[in-house]
Amino acid sequence: MQIKLKVFRYLPHTGKKPHYDTYEMEVDPTDRVLDVLEQVRADADPGLGYRRSCAHGVCGSDAMRINGRNALACKVLVKDLNSDQITVEPLLGLKVLRDLIVDMEPFFEHYRSVLPYFINDDPIPEDGKERLQSPEQRERFDDTTKCILCAACTTSCPSYWAHGKYVGPAAIVNAHRFIFDSRDTAASERLEVLNEDSGVWRCRTAFNCTEACPRDIEITKAIAEVKQVMYSGKLE
Ligand code: SF4
Ligand code: F3S
Ligand code: FES
Repeated sequence: MQIKLKVFRYLPHTGKKPHYDTYEMEVDPTDRVLDVLEQVRADADPGLGYRRSCAHGVCGSDAMRINGRNALACKVLVKDLNSDQITVEPLLGLKVLRDLIVDMEPFFEHYRSVLPYFINDDPIPEDGKERLQSPEQRERFDDTTKCILCAACTTSCPSYWAHGKYVGPAAIVNAHRFIFDSRDTAASERLEVLNEDSGVWRCRTAFNCTEACPRDIEITKAIAEVKQVMYSGKLE
């Protein structure tokens, strides 16, 4: 099929204003948007900048706006866009470094602020075995283990656009993953971070994050569960 691809272009160091380049292309309906971008780079402009690595929805590096919605370019098929016009733009709310590449550092700074790693300084069990956990205890945080840190959620959140200091849904998802882990002992430290002005209370339940997540994580629900712990003071 014939498509018209419009791609956001910007090279800050040139001093030129951002603009869009348009490409008329012949593609297969089952091509992914990432394949289309690869085709542009191979045939028309090797200078087109975007991130990619795995090409299979695992690494999270190719999140971008495709026809106005955040998605992974390697997971969106051309035919699923139901249009022969495709517009590809960088994620909103993060500085553009080049074309479709944004500065992810503020995103990872928020991520790091919630201590997104297992903390337990208690001595290991005397029998030398693992810290045991029942299937039900494991199930409690299963959904939030699926995050691949693509930033599609945080950069679709109106509260994040309004206040870049908001830790954002991705950081809360990754805090949730450890707060509800029965083996971890640092829930209160994470809740303290999330109780700050930049924390969970900035969430206005817009749901954009949940709709944007390529891993189908129930983000808004996870945020509500963290808020509930703060209200009740109990990990349930
Ligand atoms: Fe991406 Fe979903 Fe993780 Fe947000 S929660 S960073 S959308 S995988
Ligand atoms: Fe933002 Fe998601 Fe809350 S879009 S306002 S973090 S429900
Ligand atoms: Fe890895 Fe798309 S390239 S998720």
